[in-house]
Amino acid sequence: MLAPDDRVIMISGANRGIGLAVARALYDAGYSLSLGARNPASLAEVTSGWMPERLLTGHYDAEDQETHRQWVAATIARFDRLDGLVNNAGIMEDVSVEDENDEALDRMWAVNVKAPLSMTRTALPHLRRCGAGRIINVSSLAGKAVYGSGIGYSMTKFAAVALSHATRHAGWDDGVRCTALCPGYVSTDMTAAVETMAYDEMIAPGDIAEVVLTLLALSNKASIAELVINCRNDVMM
Ligand SMILES: NC(=O)c1ccc[n+]([C@@H]2O[C@H](COP(=O)([O-])OP(=O)(O)OC[C@H]3O[C@@H](n4cnc5c(N)ncnc54)[C@H](OP(=O)(O)O)[C@@H]3O)[C@@H](O)[C@H]2O)c1
Repeated sequence: MLAPDDRVIMISGANRGIGLAVARALYDAGYSLSLGARNPASLAEVTSGWMPERLLTGHYDAEDQETHRQWVAATIARFDRLDGLVNNAGIMEDVSVEDENDEALDRMWAVNVKAPLSMTRTALPHLRRCGAGRIINVSSLAGKAVYGSGIGYSMTKFAAVALSHATRHAGWDDGVRCTALCPGYVSTDMTAAVETMAYDEMIAPGDIAEVVLTLLALSNKASIAELVINCRNDVMM
């Protein structure tokens, strides 16, 4: 297993929800972190008391690719290495087959697909350099199965799975491994209004963080391309 040692991991949308749970677990495990958020001040609050030598906070606006370039450049300038990228930030809006809600669909494509692709392109040269780079794309169970006619979010999360496989192919020879992480319902702000399942029966964000820790620790010879996490007896396809 790979030890945290001096490894540097970037996490987008690290100010709350799954991103924050992952950041906390990785920090406690000893990783150095570069955390991105739309509002960097929100990161200052949640990382209060953390060792400054193991932490950088940056501006990450999914819809502004210049912030992606600046955040990666700042991470390299600060740590002179990059070992992992967790493309976590995402949004879910209602777009069904019969809706004409292209603005919401465009927003989801921008945040859930184009932004992780942009981050991947920007980070990949640095991840190649370390010989054991890791990218974890937080897709969803909605990226593996379609439930009902709510299609917009699912389309973008299927695309995130496709991005993960293409990234794995692109980086493999240089030791970069990529995982599409596909959880069912996780108890965060995103699911607070879900009525079909009790909030306390959803996956805990901390459980996702444990999975991310394992993915980051696995050697180049034991890569997980896709990982589905269920909180109920889901029909998969
Ligand atoms: N919760 C679930 O059931 C579930 C299940 C499977 C997969 N996922 C996926 O897990 C990831 C995290 O979701 P979550 O449940 O933790 O949701 P959340 O609590 O709503 O957090 C979403 C995160 O994404 C950030 N974000 C949204 N739009 C952004 C933008 N335009 N630019 C930069 N950051 C942006 C948010 O930042 P702000 O604070 O600035 O809004 C926040 O940090 C998402 O990709 C989601 O699709 C969630």
